[in-house]
Amino acid sequence: MKIAFASSEVFPYVKTGGLGDVAGSLPIELSKLGHEVKVFLPKYNVFGEEEHGLHYQWDIGEIQIRIAGLVRSVHVHAATLPNSNVHVYFVDCPHYFHRFRVYTNDLDEDERFLFYSKGIIEILQRLAWAPDIIHCNDWQTGVLPLLLKENYGWDKLFEKTATVFSIHNIAYQGIFSKSAFEKVEIKPEHFRPGGIGEYYGGVNFLKTGILTADMINTVSETYAQELLTEEYGAGMQNFLEIRKKDFLGILNGIDYNLWNPETDKFIPYKYSANDLSGKFKNKRFLLEHLGLPFNENIPLVGIVSRLVDQKGFDLFSYGLNRLMDLPVQWVMLGAGEYRYETMFGELAHQYPEKVSSYLGFNNELSHLIEAGADIFVMPSRFEPCGLNQIYSLRYGTVPVVRKTGGLADTVQDWKDSISRSDETGNGFSFEEYTSESFVRALQNAIYEFHNKKVWQKIQVNGMNKDLSWAKSAGKYVSLYEKAVSKMKKEK
Ligand code: ADP
Ligand code: GLC
Repeated sequence: MKIAFASSEVFPYVKTGGLGDVAGSLPIELSKLGHEVKVFLPKYNVFGEEEHGLHYQWDIGEIQIRIAGLVRSVHVHAATLPNSNVHVYFVDCPHYFHRFRVYTNDLDEDERFLFYSKGIIEILQRLAWAPDIIHCNDWQTGVLPLLLKENYGWDKLFEKTATVFSIHNIAYQGIFSKSAFEKVEIKPEHFRPGGIGEYYGGVNFLKTGILTADMINTVSETYAQELLTEEYGAGMQNFLEIRKKDFLGILNGIDYNLWNPETDKFIPYKYSANDLSGKFKNKRFLLEHLGLPFNENIPLVGIVSRLVDQKGFDLFSYGLNRLMDLPVQWVMLGAGEYRYETMFGELAHQYPEKVSSYLGFNNELSHLIEAGADIFVMPSRFEPCGLNQIYSLRYGTVPVVRKTGGLADTVQDWKDSISRSDETGNGFSFEEYTSESFVRALQNAIYEFHNKKVWQKIQVNGMNKDLSWAKSAGKYVSLYEKAVSKMKKEK
């Protein structure tokens, strides 16, 4: 199949969260399965070309794109995604993408990503490359399926092109005033009350994607179920209910070339499930590097996260005293909301022997924490998939998570597995969204940490779990096939 993959972030060029990881790895897996994949990415100025290993191989030239009544030029370059045959096309328009941030609150945020979406379609025209599938991801490309069907419906090139829309996070919907649709000449019926894109008098890009793509998915089975409820659906549940037949969950995989303790270039001591001794050395290295005292009997708890409500940091702030009384050390890496950055900054100040926090984005440190920590916490309020708990499982760093979304699909509670007497647990989880439940789950983990035999069993259970893309990439291929056959039937 020919697949055009549209994502506003792609690792290694640009990443603010898990979408970047997925867009940098799923296309490669699809191409290994024999599919031809082209990825499309805005050329932001947040990434330097050299330091991100970007070497343009092709210059596709200039394209003129009309938006908001103006014609703007975009320069298109292409490169190959490292270690693959996947081509990445960079939509280079400094006016929109040189903002020193990937996502902004600027008044033309709608226009930036509509421009990118139109750009993808027009680059495909320039290349005269007719994909079987355009795979759109999140609100930034939510309007693309509608544009393709209506505004570019005249172009025979796309006669057989079906669309898939992946929801990585329902919390970000791309809600703007209706002028957004006017800027790209979408028919007024779509933003009038009851229209496909209309939402409380404005327009909603995510809703548009849900109602217009041929097939829709999200990134874990549990989250797919949750999204149909009022509690988790964030206003989208009724639209997803309409599309229920065409909607499913596919768990993300991880890239074993990047996230593998046997080969990880960022960690000084490599290790595996057969020989965990390197993990212990990484812990010592990490603690020395952070300036914290090392004591092998004190568990080191890691956090790597965007510091936003989704990730459960209010549980953290409510339970702060109890958490700080626990006999553990903490290493925290994160960036995001000011109040959480302040909280973590102050903790490091208040508990210099116990807490180290790094506020900012640091890829290398995220690998070191996965390798050096004993326990990893993710008390998320909701979690579409979550990649850090998957990295943790892979690195023998026992996850303590709230049982929701993708966390529920990847982490099996050790105590539950004991009561079933199958000992298959690979972490610790809690259901109720309270700091008491969170602290209790963490206490359970700390208790088992001191029982070396049990702990190693839990670690190895996680490390041996297959969390690669192998299964999930195949599920995406079936999803694409469904989208293609559905579109054929409709014609
Ligand atoms: P989300 O996409 O909601 O942020 P995921 O767990 O799916 O959550 O993915 C987060 C990704 O971003 C992981 O690869 C994680 O290591 C990375 N990440 C998050 N915050 C940071 C940070 N401050 N520094 C480095 N990497 C980070
Ligand atoms: C989102 C979600 C996260 C998921 C990632 C990749 O950012 O918050 O749970 O793993 O997308 O799909």
